[in-house]
Amino acid sequence: MCIYIDPPYNTGNEKWAYNDNVNSPMMQEWLGKVVDREDLTRHDKWLCMMTPRLKLLRELLREDGVIFISIDDNEVHHLRMTMDEVFGEDNFVNLFTIKSNPRGSQASKHIALEHEYLITYAKSLSQTEIIGYSKSEDDLSEYKLIDEKEKKYRLLGLRQRGGAWRRVQRPNLYFPIYVNPKNGNVSLEKSNIFCKKVLPKRPSGEEGRWTWSEEKVKNNIHLLVGKKVSRIGESDFWDVFRKDHFESEDGMTTTKKPKSIWDEKELNYQNGRNELKEIFGNSEIFEYPKPTFLIKKGLRILDLDEEIILDSFAGSGTTAHAIISLNKEDGDNRKFILVECEDYADKITAERVRRVIKGVPNAKDESLRKGLGGSFSYFELGKAIELESILSGDGLPTYEELARYIFYTATGEEFDSKAMNEKKNFVGESRNYKVYLFYEPDIEKLKNTALTLERAKSIGKPGEKRRLIFAPTKYLDQAHLDELRIDFAQLPFEIYELAR
Ligand SMILES: C[S@@+](CC[C@H](N)C(=O)[O-])C[C@H]1O[C@@H](n2cnc3c(N)ncnc32)[C@H](O)[C@@H]1O
Repeated sequence: MCIYIDPPYNTGNEKWAYNDNVNSPMMQEWLGKVVDREDLTRHDKWLCMMTPRLKLLRELLREDGVIFISIDDNEVHHLRMTMDEVFGEDNFVNLFTIKSNPRGSQASKHIALEHEYLITYAKSLSQTEIIGYSKSEDDLSEYKLIDEKEKKYRLLGLRQRGGAWRRVQRPNLYFPIYVNPKNGNVSLEKSNIFCKKVLPKRPSGEEGRWTWSEEKVKNNIHLLVGKKVSRIGESDFWDVFRKDHFESEDGMTTTKKPKSIWDEKELNYQNGRNELKEIFGNSEIFEYPKPTFLIKKGLRILDLDEEIILDSFAGSGTTAHAIISLNKEDGDNRKFILVECEDYADKITAERVRRVIKGVPNAKDESLRKGLGGSFSYFELGKAIELESILSGDGLPTYEELARYIFYTATGEEFDSKAMNEKKNFVGESRNYKVYLFYEPDIEKLKNTALTLERAKSIGKPGEKRRLIFAPTKYLDQAHLDELRIDFAQLPFEIYELAR
């Protein structure tokens, strides 16, 4: 599973406003007021908007999931610190630099900014697989050598270059490897044949370390090659290299790591506008749409063939467009969930997805003209099912309100008011249960709704499915409940109190 979000960058020009349902009087002051650059609390507002969302998104992410967040210099530093707090420093994957404006934005006084960022964190990096990109024909030119099986490869140094290269940092990766100078074969054992001792040392003579453990060297010794290299002041200096094949043993093209700077021309923000224009005939319909290329490039580094991608700042629906298009390209079946809080959710966000699926008659791109295929459902949020608000209404909740609440919270399945039969205390049937509710929205009558043996029997004889009965309290013992195949669930304490 994966999340991509593109929240307001807090540039001061986006007209975003803090609009969460909060109780704090200070924060209520913020409600509905557009956050501009002069606003001294703009960073506080932005962080108050983002932090609970990031916490919730983390909860929603699977253990091996990854989150990508588009952002620019206005909030990148705050976002990174918040992400360190919410996701943990150890789960930081990368801060990709995206060349989104090759002409350079003139918005800054001194610098023509060409780039923005894609912050990437894993929920748990040790459980995450970043598969990287398939190697292309362009990459093939780097694989100039051919082995005895006619497979193309290149040689990469076995010594660690860059980050944590010192012996003291990984002492167990510092050990000698011996080379046979006649053919370059290597061994971990010194002998008359394997007589050239190689240690991972930098040209400066400092002690470094290998990238492979002794165990890995032993198991992959056939992939290692010793070579004499030139070193200033040394006439007989040997180093060890590993063969990096273009294709893996099973003939599949191996992947390459994603690079940290993304500079393809398709990442130009103008592309996002053009794509929108192609669909709606007008790019002004939505400000700041992302190019689908960006999202596709991000998703490609993960193995997501059947997975769900969530975007809770959906805007013009670019994420759905990108996923549908990627599925069309590679035949996979990624799914998406998009969330949009603004009024345009139906007319722009969902409408773009409908058009992309069905086809856009005037589009220049042929596949878009024909439609990329796929399907989705559009829902609008109903009233929140929250007990507090149900109980703080005028008097007690109606039978149906409470039925809706208990059915959904107990089963996680959709409540269907048509299936309900109030007279028979029947609320609905879920995968595992038939659900019943004994309740009256009138305090005097409520006292008469406790689950008694008589009431338990009134719902009929036990069938195959267990019965789940909600009531303010019960006056029958466990043996009877077992016999009647009933699980009892007490109604919330506030209702129980009133029923006493
Ligand atoms: C730049 S748009 C996302 C654009 C999208 N990636 C696209 O390509 O069309 C920013 C998103 O932030 C959402 N947003 C703005 N203010 C918000 C707020 N106060 N709370 C939650 N979301 C907000 C907007 O509704 C919009 O979906």
